[in-house]
Amino acid sequence: MQIVQFGLGGVGRELAHQLMARRDALAARYGVRLDYRALADSRAALIGDRLDPQAVFAAVAAKSEGRSLADLPASRMLTDPGMLLQGKPGILVDVTASDAISSAMAGAVRAGWRVVLANKRPLSAGMGLFQRLTQAGATRYEATVGAGLPIISTLQSLIDGGDRIERIEATVSGTLAFLMSALEDGMPFSRALLEAKALGYTEPDPRDDLSGADVARKALILARTCGWLLTPEDPAPEALYPDALASVDPETFLGRLPELDAPMARRLADAKAAGAALRYVATVSAAGVQVGLQTLPSTHPLAGLRGADNLFSFTTSRYHERPLVIRGPGAGLSVTAAGVLADIVATAREFRD
Ligand SMILES: NC(=O)c1ccc[n+]([C@@H]2O[C@H](COP(=O)([O-])OP(=O)(O)OC[C@H]3O[C@@H](n4cnc5c(N)ncnc54)[C@H](OP(=O)(O)O)[C@@H]3O)[C@@H](O)[C@H]2O)c1
Repeated sequence: MQIVQFGLGGVGRELAHQLMARRDALAARYGVRLDYRALADSRAALIGDRLDPQAVFAAVAAKSEGRSLADLPASRMLTDPGMLLQGKPGILVDVTASDAISSAMAGAVRAGWRVVLANKRPLSAGMGLFQRLTQAGATRYEATVGAGLPIISTLQSLIDGGDRIERIEATVSGTLAFLMSALEDGMPFSRALLEAKALGYTEPDPRDDLSGADVARKALILARTCGWLLTPEDPAPEALYPDALASVDPETFLGRLPELDAPMARRLADAKAAGAALRYVATVSAAGVQVGLQTLPSTHPLAGLRGADNLFSFTTSRYHERPLVIRGPGAGLSVTAAGVLADIVATAREFRD
């Protein structure tokens, strides 16, 4: 089974390592052999009928050193992602954070390719693209929500088994979960955010986390997986900073963080006075998607969440009195790459059958 992988960042490099390490065991267990036909970064690609392990590890090593694949003598400039998707259909793996290959991806699915994604963007853009990619089960995307946690597969098997999803409530951002937990421990918002940044939990510009946009993308993917065909505009997320700080430069934003302490402390105090917990939650139901701060009763599964874990609570017709709950780390290179690899293996086995 031949694989074309777009992206050799943290997840892509870890995936290449895991795939090469598991190849022989997977061949022995399932009779499927995974080979790279191409590996690409944003500028160039290594292409070969079956890339030998040395070439794969050389590409990974070059990327780990901060170089481009374009620096490798055997590479070719990536002028168009479609150039890697000619010939016999295989598995296209998207571990970029870009929209750049979405339309080539849709064309590849039409030509019989299967797709595996860790990248949320293709599935959280227009509805047409979501439908083209997911029709007839052409695309697997477990790692787009909750990284290596079995969220999409759980949802799909609930639906396949005839359960009716009533509501999904989830904390899908480790960064925001960490902030809420630190606030509860009495830390001012500004200090909690700087601590999260020092721990490497935030994006370089923390507004990318605080805007809620990434949470909204995941919520949209959950909703669409349930068959609720929402548009990208539907889940307008609540940002944890005022409009006045939306367009200042990142340094000014960090300098003005203490302005957020008092309003956030007030919201927390109000929640505590009501005996409730304050959490940043994505709520997904047939009525739509809501993304923002919520006060939750202390008995709610999300109220007990501490630290940077993700938590997903599925209320369904069968899990009605007590919801089905999945909790654990929702980010990290090793678990994310393992989630992608599991999707590749499942796809390869299906292809073989
Ligand atoms: N990190 C996690 O814990 C985690 C968890 C779940 C899901 N994800 C998702 O997994 C994806 C990858 O994450 P990451 O942390 O590995 O990101 P990253 O370090 O930013 O790497 C992105 C890679 O994509 C490449 N790229 C960008 N545009 C491309 C194009 N048009 N064609 C080919 N390659 C292209 C980049 O190339 P250059 O190297 O040339 O820039 C880079 O190698 C993201 O969508 C992320 O949201 C990550």
